[in-house]
Amino acid sequence: MGAPMDPPPAPAAITVDRLTVQRGGRDILREVSLTVTDGTITAVVGPSGVGKSTLMGALNGLLRPSGGTVSVAGIGCLDDAGALREARRRTATIFQDHALIDRLPAIDNVLLGLADTRHPLSLLPWSQSLRRRAAQALDEVGLLNRATTRTGHLSGGERQRVGIARALVRCPCLLLGDEPFASVDSALARRLGEDIRRLVARGGLTVVLVLHQLQMARTLADRIIGLSDGRVAFDGPAGSFDAAAEAGIFAPHLRGGASP
Ligand SMILES: Nc1ncnc2c1ncn2[C@@H]1O[C@H](COP(=O)(O)OP(=O)(O)OP(=O)(O)O)[C@@H](O)[C@H]1O
Ligand SMILES: [Mg+2]
Repeated sequence: MGAPMDPPPAPAAITVDRLTVQRGGRDILREVSLTVTDGTITAVVGPSGVGKSTLMGALNGLLRPSGGTVSVAGIGCLDDAGALREARRRTATIFQDHALIDRLPAIDNVLLGLADTRHPLSLLPWSQSLRRRAAQALDEVGLLNRATTRTGHLSGGERQRVGIARALVRCPCLLLGDEPFASVDSALARRLGEDIRRLVARGGLTVVLVLHQLQMARTLADRIIGLSDGRVAFDGPAGSFDAAAEAGIFAPHLRGGASP
């Protein structure tokens, strides 16, 4: 009898090939290559300033690489304007700085997540069904009772949840979250993480999250990518991101067991 066959490898949702991104005249990411597997949660970790948000910017096409490519399965390389448009349509981003409009009520910021579903100059009020969808997204992050509150009057964690709702309301195929739980307490972060895990299990969603809570990265993600010095220093299953891997990324000068 033959050996049982391995399941076929899950397809890549995103392929990053020798990506170099410059900011302020410096190479922040240098020839970074990685793949993001379809239908999984990938956590990106690394020290402050290493280029995690820069990588997210390249994945959602807001930052153009100076070298290399980002390709989305079934769409193509983001160098191409048509592919970029289509990739953006299928992608939602939770931004590190929330990127909300303070003077608008919370629900209107969530509705802005759907802005590309209607004419950009439309002066018509949002339809009842879209308003219901936005209210449901706010409910999912526990903020329905603040739907009509001016966003600028919300706390940091509440604003963060509005940003999450604005991303989820799009029902994206690719969800990018840049430290999406940084301003919420750990119990709420866990609950929101479980919600994302459930959405992934339902199918059709791939998630990449920058996380600074390493414990959360280990428990929530399928895979961890660690950045150090502009390069991928770790890329493997979340379960193999052990203390040595962590030290290699957050304290590379200690690598090799140097004694005092
Ligand atoms: N708009 C900009 N102009 C010039 N340099 C920038 C700009 N934005 C970021 N940088 C630089 O790029 C580098 C990477 O920044 P990035 O925001 O990607 O880091 P990060 O890993 O997300 O950090 P953090 O954990 O603090 O959010 C930093 O050195 C930063 O100073
Ligand atoms: Mg960042």
